[in-house]
Amino acid sequence: MVPGPTNLSMGVRQAMSQPQVGHMDLDYAKEFSEVVRLARKAFRNNNGHQFVLTGSGTLAMEIAVTSIVSPGDKVLALNTGYFANRMVEINKAYGASVEEIRTEFGVSADPDEVRRKLAAGKFKAVFVTHVDTSSTTCNAVKEIVKEAKNSGSLAVVDGVCSVGGLELDFDRLGADVVFTGSQKALAAPPGTVLIAVSRELLEQMEGRKDSIRGYYLNLLRWKPYMDDPRGYFATPAVQLMQALKVALQELDKEGLDARWRRHHANAEIIREGIVSVGNRLVVREPADRADTVTGIWTKDGAAPDVQRVLRERYNIDVAKGLGENGTKMLRVGHFGNLTKEQANYFVDSFANALTGR
Ligand SMILES: Cc1ncc(COP(=O)(O)O)c(C=O)c1O
Repeated sequence: MVPGPTNLSMGVRQAMSQPQVGHMDLDYAKEFSEVVRLARKAFRNNNGHQFVLTGSGTLAMEIAVTSIVSPGDKVLALNTGYFANRMVEINKAYGASVEEIRTEFGVSADPDEVRRKLAAGKFKAVFVTHVDTSSTTCNAVKEIVKEAKNSGSLAVVDGVCSVGGLELDFDRLGADVVFTGSQKALAAPPGTVLIAVSRELLEQMEGRKDSIRGYYLNLLRWKPYMDDPRGYFATPAVQLMQALKVALQELDKEGLDARWRRHHANAEIIREGIVSVGNRLVVREPADRADTVTGIWTKDGAAPDVQRVLRERYNIDVAKGLGENGTKMLRVGHFGNLTKEQANYFVDSFANALTGR
């Protein structure tokens, strides 16, 4: 129950223990086409372009920037935690002039403030993290993307901690880039990224006067391979793609809406359980809480002890806070394959761990 990677089903694990196949084998090309088809379903992306690459979530963050930003471009980043801040840093690394809306830890960005900021200046793009896994805050992406698009900016959503676990419909959302990593709500091993890109942005990329910075990070180079994976661009992590295929098949079988509902029900069990034993949730506003991860304030620097007891006595692995919050808070991931029974088991174990039992 760390906020990624998550537990893998037996089917996903078995997919990684098959004899090696070549990445240019026709059977593998068919499997990869199926990965892309199922990735579209996981994003509800019928209108845009879909990419699936080898790499971690940070690769997708960087690709979102190389796809959009030329040096000197002004962008708006909603800084709601550690990962949103990474997006700021990547933008700066590529020469963007970044303006930020910073929120208090555990508080989401206010769409009205975003609108005011966008009315006051012209921004090439708005970057928002759907769920910041550090602060466990969920941003109102529908409203924020709407504000961005109304103002004529591109909209980028970091969906690493949301896609598959929280409502997110790429076509209806209207964002230009939404991405996730395989290791979170999709319940696949770490090492692959899934990126949905709007037609509008791809056309802009094709028409760019300056060249896109990066080679592996240039989606235009990947596009032919996504359309027909019988060719070669760069050797993919074959086993991870095969595992991702099975994880996406399992998601498809469960149904995206059903998976969102399961995540919500389990999140409610966990949140109520935490509050019922007297602990505070990091995110105060119910609307800002995520159904994929929950932050808990622990008393008097007790986070490492509670974490240790959960692990040693109850076989549950949770994460501490990042940086200065390491002793003050725990982060509990409740996404992927988590069952209601496991959510209840966590609640009982957490209550016992607090009293040292
Ligand atoms: C919201 C969010 N964005 C980006 C990342 C970076 O992903 P990765 O660690 O796979 O590079 C993470 C990682 O946990 C994340 O939670």
